[in-house]
Amino acid sequence: MKWLASAFGSFLLFLGACGEAPVAKNPAGSEAAPGGSFAQICAACHGPNGEGKEELHSPSIAGLPVWYVEEQVKKFRAGTRGFHPEDLPGQQMRAISLTLTEAQISEAAVTIAALPIRLSEPPPAGFDLETARYSYANDCMECHRYNGKGEIVFHSAQLISLNRSYLRRQLQNFRSGRRGATVGDRYGAKMVEKTKNLTDDEIERFATYIGALAHSDDPRGAREK
Ligand code: HEC
Ligand code: HEC
Repeated sequence: MKWLASAFGSFLLFLGACGEAPVAKNPAGSEAAPGGSFAQICAACHGPNGEGKEELHSPSIAGLPVWYVEEQVKKFRAGTRGFHPEDLPGQQMRAISLTLTEAQISEAAVTIAALPIRLSEPPPAGFDLETARYSYANDCMECHRYNGKGEIVFHSAQLISLNRSYLRRQLQNFRSGRRGATVGDRYGAKMVEKTKNLTDDEIERFATYIGALAHSDDPRGAREK
């Protein structure tokens, strides 16, 4: 397995060297609903266009980059995500991941990356944008970038397409060690470290601010204010 992990690592480095994650084309090559392993397996929970389903706790995955989808599905499969007995949504996704072949994962990832992105819901009226922007600029921007699109070289996720309930739950999961806390999960550990001292209110503020980022708020000027 070691060589596999390192081969995968060099593949990511190679992609990283190309800058932005590649924009994948839908292999079906049509405007119609996506097909292949995505339609057969993933659409049942993530929706026919990858928009997610709140009632199943399944996030919007449309437009997530290929590298991120592959990496996370492999983490579910390896038990570095969805391992905690109280993380029921994570366990569901882990159960699915165990049935998938490498080829199905790659194919679904390419389909997902080509789906039009669904932006996080904008913040409600009265939200304290200024405080949130400042916190994001200082605590999150270095890895998730000013536009919340993530960065392949840091393995940091794209955030602006995730629904607020999912963002909140993931931040809580990292904080409580339900995600990112297994030995050797280098990238998850960064989020465990980042969230360990956050209060519920702070988590809510970050989850809500991502919606502002998705709708073009620019945090760059707020840094170190
Ligand atoms: C049985 C329902 C179900 C099916 C089928 C399913 N998923 Fe999921 N998936 C979920 C749930 C629930 C989550 C949220 C897990 C969590 O909270 O950590 C999830 C999370 C994910 C994530 C993590 C997203 C992120 O932003 O980190 C990816 C990637 C993903 N699924 C890909 C897939 C792919 C690819 C398929 C098809 C091959 C698939 N899923 C099929 C239920 C499902
Ligand atoms: C040192 C780099 C770093 C910093 C700083 C950072 N993150 Fe992350 N973040 C990551 C990495 C790497 C991942 C992917 C973790 C994994 O593989 O499970 C991630 C994942 C996430 C996820 C899960 C996304 C998903 O699709 O499931 C959320 C939400 C998130 N970060 C929000 C934040 C917020 C909010 C902040 C600021 C408080 C922040 N991050 C600061 C590196 C960072």
